[in-house]
Amino acid sequence: MDINLINKYNVPGPRYTSYPTVPHWNVEDFRLSTWKSKLVETFNKTNKTEGISLYIHLPFCESMCTFCGCNKRITKRHDVESPYIKAVLKEWSLYLNLFDEKPIIKQLHIGGGTPTFFSPENLDYLLTCIINTSHLAEDYEFSFEGHPNNTTKEHLQTLYNLGFRRVSFGVQDYNETIQKAIHRIQPFEKVKKVTELAREIGYTSIGHDIIYGLPFQTIDNVEYTIEKTKELAPDRIAFYSYAHVPWLKGNGQRGYSEENLPDGKDKLMMYEIGKSRLLDFGYNNIGMDHFSLAGDTLYQALENKTLHRNFMGYTHAKTDVMIGLGTSSIGDSWNAFYQNVKNIEEYQSLVNNQIFPISKGHILTNEDLIIRQHILNLMCHYETKWDDETLHSKALEKAPLKMFPLVKDGLVTVSESQIKVTAKGKPFIRNICMAIDQYLNPNAQMQFSKTV
Ligand SMILES: C[S@@+](CC[C@H](N)C(=O)[O-])C[C@H]1O[C@@H](n2cnc3c(N)ncnc32)[C@H](O)[C@@H]1O
Ligand code: SF4
Repeated sequence: MDINLINKYNVPGPRYTSYPTVPHWNVEDFRLSTWKSKLVETFNKTNKTEGISLYIHLPFCESMCTFCGCNKRITKRHDVESPYIKAVLKEWSLYLNLFDEKPIIKQLHIGGGTPTFFSPENLDYLLTCIINTSHLAEDYEFSFEGHPNNTTKEHLQTLYNLGFRRVSFGVQDYNETIQKAIHRIQPFEKVKKVTELAREIGYTSIGHDIIYGLPFQTIDNVEYTIEKTKELAPDRIAFYSYAHVPWLKGNGQRGYSEENLPDGKDKLMMYEIGKSRLLDFGYNNIGMDHFSLAGDTLYQALENKTLHRNFMGYTHAKTDVMIGLGTSSIGDSWNAFYQNVKNIEEYQSLVNNQIFPISKGHILTNEDLIIRQHILNLMCHYETKWDDETLHSKALEKAPLKMFPLVKDGLVTVSESQIKVTAKGKPFIRNICMAIDQYLNPNAQMQFSKTV
């Protein structure tokens, strides 16, 4: 590995779950009425053919993990569940009122926060109401994020009965010192138990989230965590780079300092060694940070070139419409984005008054739509072409020039109408996408985590 390359390219940069990325949305020109008409237009075109995706954000957690970058509220009071669920259902009915036909749900994902903070009864109520007001696509997929410390057999069984077959568990790292530093004590035995339980009940895709770059973490720790993970053979592994973003308000990233974090060189080593262990163990690398066994839908999507990336990360099913319900959720109609307010009280008050709880959004220009497709191609397939008129934009004519340093470093090859990432360039995929991002300006990049 080339240390100079790491030093050169380890700069703040987006993770490209969308393009343009949220900090670059043109929020001044966003109008709710335009968003609604764009959504209805795309919905009418695609509901019958591909269905919609639904993301529901359940923001509560009982205990604060100090590394966490998610939108969450820490509380031990469970009387917050019912008003929140009622609000989500009111928000859902605001969307139902926009459409002339029932949405066909292709994908439904519950994330957080901690979905399993909610009682199985409340989750059952929420999801039954949603299922009863929509149709399900033939090959629908329901998934949720489970915290190994509080996912019970009842949670797993209730969600299974509702049609859930995929669950991902947050593991992060098995080392005790690290677990103490991130305030998340979670022994291997606990993860083992909940993984086996999910399998016994019939879940067909079990995922584990592992993070490299955590405070006090060493390369040995990453290897150990991966070896222990192998014992449980999850179908998918998300191998995330720790995003250090302490400046985001309410994040609570504390309890350790910058000096306790591994440097860029060690972090890249963790990624490289971790990745090669995962490959040794029979996992296939999917896009930037996902790995899956050959039987998993994510791997099949990679093989069939149908892999997609959205706000939930990599997925096998692409729908143009994604509705996000709950605080901070993001929605997408391919030609427009919105994000909901992050504050729970504000969210509840807005929906209780029949108002869409949207705080900001972006309507994509024609140029945005073209670059969006290319960034998606690069993130999912490591190559993109614009020999077709519809995918050509003036900005791409500058690609050979803008990519010159990346070409010189052997990370990418660029012709008049194609960009192809080399094997050496794969860990730098975010930097490669940054070269065609029309919004990035070096002074505004600090709001992103580092690319390596
Ligand atoms: C919402 S949590 C999963 C559900 C549940 N709250 C839990 O923690 O088990 C989603 C995942 O995001 C990842 N994550 C959270 N903060 C992160 C950060 N700062 N950098 C990288 N990954 C992060 C973790 O791997 C975590 O498992
Ligand atoms: S990692 Fe999960 S449990 Fe921990 S604070 Fe974040 S969302 Fe909550």
